[in-house]
Amino acid sequence: MSPRRKRYTPLNVEAVAVSLHDSAIGHRIIYLPTVTSTMDIARQEAERGAEEGTVVVAETQTGGRARFGRQWLSSPGQNLAFSVLLYPSRRVCSRLSVVSPVAVLRAIRQVTGLSATLKWPNDVRLAEKKVCGILIETTIENSEVRSAILGIGINVNYNPAEEPQADFTATSLAAEVGKPIPRDELLQAVLANLGLAYTHLKGWDQVWYDWRSSLETLGRQVQVRWGEKIEEGVAEDVDSEGNLLLRHLDGTLITLAAGEVSLQV
Ligand code: BTN
Repeated sequence: MSPRRKRYTPLNVEAVAVSLHDSAIGHRIIYLPTVTSTMDIARQEAERGAEEGTVVVAETQTGGRARFGRQWLSSPGQNLAFSVLLYPSRRVCSRLSVVSPVAVLRAIRQVTGLSATLKWPNDVRLAEKKVCGILIETTIENSEVRSAILGIGINVNYNPAEEPQADFTATSLAAEVGKPIPRDELLQAVLANLGLAYTHLKGWDQVWYDWRSSLETLGRQVQVRWGEKIEEGVAEDVDSEGNLLLRHLDGTLITLAAGEVSLQV
């Protein structure tokens, strides 16, 4: 029998979604047998304003895609192929390519005990072979991120030796650990780790927003002193890193990373 037609146990996505009911990611999972690409379905979900954290999982992708316009091939029912719909800020968006592979690494360690490595920027590897690829597609409107779709493909149980087109640069978790890996458990672990990391990043933005809106300094005439230096002007704003933007009387704007502020009356 061709490995592509192997029987498989369908994913129990209901149980995964229930276990993630409190998580930022995975509380809603759309499970489809065959799609062109889970990225396409997630994009449709974004267009209709679906909830953030919605996940689209498919057993077979007829047009699975990878970075640089490449194809993503995955044995039906053996692996994991899913996309996550997010509505991040620009700043959080720029961190997704760091957060996502880390969530996959953590999940792999929890479920298999294996310590995977990363190839820049976000290929997850075992024994120097690729075990997971990550694709991030963003929609930008008026310089703002409207949505980001995170596509994750993990080689879970496929047997590289059985593949008709052997890819010596890829491996699977099962091949490395020597036994089948429960896909439900791995999906749950990846989504839980992603949810935690993502909430943490978003949390920073919220903290920053609360901090900024509580700053009595803004809009005031101030004197900022550090060491022997003194700068005077209007505390116009703060940037996303927490630096102060100070407008001098002559109209120039400077960024101050540190200093002691005296508010002028
Ligand atoms: C890469 O290695 O370049 C990224 C591969 C990303 C593959 C996943 S599988 C789920 C999602 N749907 C796709 O069509 N691609 C991503």
